Amino acid sequence: MVSKVRTIVRHVLPRPARDAVLKAAHTRGLMPWATKGFEVWLIVQHLLLLLRPQAMVEFGSGRSTDYLAEYAHKSGCRLMSIEENWIYVAKVNLALRLLMTRTNVVRHVPVKGEWYDHARFDRLLDAFGPADFVFIDGPVDREGRERAAIERHLDRLIDLAEVKLVLLDDTQRPEVKALALRIAERFGLVAYDLADTHKEGNALTFLLAPGHTAALDALAPSLRALLEPVAAPAAATDEPALT
Ligand SMILES: C[S@@+](CC[C@H](N)C(=O)[O-])C[C@H]1O[C@@H](n2cnc3c(N)ncnc32)[C@H](O)[C@@H]1O
Repeated sequence: MVSKVRTIVRHVLPRPARDAVLKAAHTRGLMPWATKGFEVWLIVQHLLLLLRPQAMVEFGSGRSTDYLAEYAHKSGCRLMSIEENWIYVAKVNLALRLLMTRTNVVRHVPVKGEWYDHARFDRLLDAFGPADFVFIDGPVDREGRERAAIERHLDRLIDLAEVKLVLLDDTQRPEVKALALRIAERFGLVAYDLADTHKEGNALTFLLAPGHTAALDALAPSLRALLEPVAAPAAATDEPALT
């Protein structure tokens, strides 16, 4: 059905209108897009196995939630997935039920202004508590939206003493990469980039607690080779540059 609509839109509408309709459908979650490559999921699953997080919070539900919920279900880890679009809340919770894994982990928090409704998220966080694994993959990139608005909640969201991994998707976008590096600096985490070869132009940044970077050495060499350490940004200096 979706592919029929896509074909009609492609063939009937002139190019600018077609691009606008497809973009609007994508950003509203009405038309599925290619999800991340299987190497991404392999690395995430291995890191779950190696790091054994106990409390995970995800922003932006989808395929990822299946993997996280499977681990959570089998290991007794707590999971909360924040989703802006009620269609995806229903879809992902249904998918989890059909997989016979933990259900109702996806919580609807609409976007209000630049980010999820802060007051509603705060109430959910009060009930959930801090996390040792945070996956930032939302809200959907639309005009006026700002993932950096998450910074207001970071001190309560991320358990400084326990944090193992913070994962950010879409770090090919300079503002998301800048957010990743600010989180790394604030919590003393070590950053690694992964170019997602199955989704053109997409990149993820893994932020690992220094005490847990050894987990990467336990990955299969073919997976470990995909993670590039990110050089720490050069410290600002008032000294004139040497020529
Ligand atoms: C980047 S997706 C999040 C996907 C999820 N974290 C994952 O990796 O599978 C951002 C938003 O798009 C919607 N969405 C989820 N899966 C989708 C898909 N396959 N196609 C289109 N939209 C999707 C949801 O509203 C979600 O919050």
